[in-house]
Amino acid sequence: MLGKNKDPRINDDWSIDDWKLLIEIAKDLKKKFKAGVPHDYMTRQTLFMLFFNDSLRTRNSFEAGMTQLGGHAHFLDPSAIYKPALPGEDVPYKTERIADVGRVLSEMGNAISIRIYGDPVEWKYAKGHKIIQEFARWADVPLINMEDDIFHPCQALADWQAIDEHLNGKYEKKKYVMSYAFSGGLKPLAVPTSCVLHTTMMGMDVVFARPKGFELEDSIIARCKEYADMFGGSFEETEDMEAAFEGADIVYPKAWAPRDALVGPWNNRTVPDKELANKLALQARGWICDQRKMDLANKNVKYMHCLPADRGQEVTDEVIDGPNSICFDEAGNRLHSQKALMTAIMGKKE
Ligand code: CP
Repeated sequence: MLGKNKDPRINDDWSIDDWKLLIEIAKDLKKKFKAGVPHDYMTRQTLFMLFFNDSLRTRNSFEAGMTQLGGHAHFLDPSAIYKPALPGEDVPYKTERIADVGRVLSEMGNAISIRIYGDPVEWKYAKGHKIIQEFARWADVPLINMEDDIFHPCQALADWQAIDEHLNGKYEKKKYVMSYAFSGGLKPLAVPTSCVLHTTMMGMDVVFARPKGFELEDSIIARCKEYADMFGGSFEETEDMEAAFEGADIVYPKAWAPRDALVGPWNNRTVPDKELANKLALQARGWICDQRKMDLANKNVKYMHCLPADRGQEVTDEVIDGPNSICFDEAGNRLHSQKALMTAIMGKKE
């Protein structure tokens, strides 16, 4: 369980009991929110939110969530402060060492949350994660990962709640498909990574569908296989989106970047190749979630997406606005599940 010896700051390696506890708290907080029952458990607490990337859901769910809990979420724009820097990246009076920023903010608030991936870290895979780890190393308060270039644990938590609610708590052995879907934009690998990790931990039968070139890191795939063995589900990969959709209970078609276009441990690049990323994405233009593919799945299949969705590329309007879509309830659960997370890890300083 979440406790003194558990480091909740990066929260990509919590136990099944930790996550299940949070889902129960989240469901309770959702009921209270819908019924207008006050739940201001975090009066006078401050969450610092450092966003290196755009956000609609993450920023507003944390900000509204803290208000509803009686505290305050403070937005920090990296371009309006001395840019937090790793050792060796200092620029006099322009940057400030993460070691110093983390300790200063810890003196003033109760948690620090960070989003960082993509252009701010030059698409160097895992650099955003390294920056969050550096904050966690120095901060005396919990660190919340609001999405880096490997993980998006808050999204996976909200998704877990949505799956639990829409499958009435009976999600073990249900077929879950995380599938690539075409987009003209370059998106990080964090959502598919966190989602396949969590759903294998949930004991679901997970199918990971993606064209060649859109693989996840080998160690993530290995962990999914371990979780499938450990938690009684299964995990398989395919390059066939339609075969993956057959008989599915949940489909989650979304875009991410082809990993060979990024700067990563699997290649010798020093800069990302955005032309290659675009070329590989265009080759996968047929990977759209439309009604024809939805009809291959179970009648009551649920369509999920972390949002924002690229309509007309990743998904048709008919599907995202249709009766099988639960993506807006899923987005709403960002509020409830992150409130659960904050009540569980914030509070007195250790
Ligand atoms: N899904 C998600 O993280 O949304 P935002 O990018 O709007 O925060």
